[in-house]
Amino acid sequence: MYSSKITGLGYYVPENVVTNNDLTQWMETSDEWIQERTGIKERRWIDPKTEDTTAVMGAKAARIAIERAGLTKDDIDFIVFATLSPDMYFPGGGVQIQDMLDMPTIGALDVRNQCSGFIYSLSVADQFIKTGMYKNILVIGSENHSGGLERSTRGRGVTVIFGDGAGAAVLSRCEEEGKGILSSHLHSEGKHAEELALMGPSTNRWVPEIIEANDPDDTSYFPHMNGQFVFKHAVVRFSEAIIEGLQANGLQKDDIDMLIPHQANLRIAQFIQKKFELANDKVYNNIMRYGNTTAASIIIALTEAWEEGKIKDNDLVVLAAFGSGFTWGSVVIRW
Ligand code: UT7
Repeated sequence: MYSSKITGLGYYVPENVVTNNDLTQWMETSDEWIQERTGIKERRWIDPKTEDTTAVMGAKAARIAIERAGLTKDDIDFIVFATLSPDMYFPGGGVQIQDMLDMPTIGALDVRNQCSGFIYSLSVADQFIKTGMYKNILVIGSENHSGGLERSTRGRGVTVIFGDGAGAAVLSRCEEEGKGILSSHLHSEGKHAEELALMGPSTNRWVPEIIEANDPDDTSYFPHMNGQFVFKHAVVRFSEAIIEGLQANGLQKDDIDMLIPHQANLRIAQFIQKKFELANDKVYNNIMRYGNTTAASIIIALTEAWEEGKIKDNDLVVLAAFGSGFTWGSVVIRW
């Protein structure tokens, strides 16, 4: 059995910075409220005048990751692409990225696990490498939230939180014993699916039905989040996923060199940091600058932490996520 390790990392965020104060042109909110409740100062939102889309951003991040892995597009055997905001209802965005990168006709798998999308994707890619089926897999998370958010006071509980961006990792066969991905754990609890969801358009609620109803009070085509309910579950599940990952490898919380939590809310990350008694330099957060970029958040944060020299050879890196589904999980890596 082989193991897998991350050999290349990259991210791309749109140039357009939207500060908390910028949001007040559309809704009743304040920099103070947003920073106090979430830690977010600004986020990137695609400028519709640019070429950026979910797939385009994913391809941009992927090019960087492939180059940093010392590979070319022709060395990639498979694509795993996570998003909740694809350019098209179908097909999924993985095939768009295969085309944009002018890759051979390799397989492209789309993962629909929202905030846990990167954790799920990494785990799937790890299994393919472990069995020896593939050698180099491109794992991408990308989101274009801004186009679908409700820019009004009615939508402010959700809209102020989300940002656009993409991240990518190349996962490669690892020959060194004890290095690379040590474990991944994945969970779901579908009874809470509607607590953080976008209900329509869908096959339950096709577009003609929505148009015909023409109901100004219909918010089903905007994301809905029961914020406090999600928050309460998040802090519990994040902790469980981290503990599960550590225990599976016979490790303790003191062994963690870097924890990269999904960037859902700085208060959640701070709660986890306190619970696991981790020093400030052992938890990486960038939600202040990008908001919640869902499937892209962990990979953007991981890339930045690595670029800043905060992840070194042999470090124990723990990735953990929780989000819509509910889905949650962790990946433990010996770098
Ligand atoms: O990534 C996926 C997982 N997601 C999460 O983990 C998110 C978890 N939830 C949260 O992070 C928090 O629940 C939020 C940041 C979304 C909201 O914070 P909260 O402290 O739970 O606020 P709330 O929704 O209970 O709203 C409190 C008040 C309400 O006003 P009233 O009813 O007390 O008068 C809201 O209308 O704050 C109001 N409010 C706002 N005010 C200013 C809600 N959004 C805003 C806003 N600006 N943007």
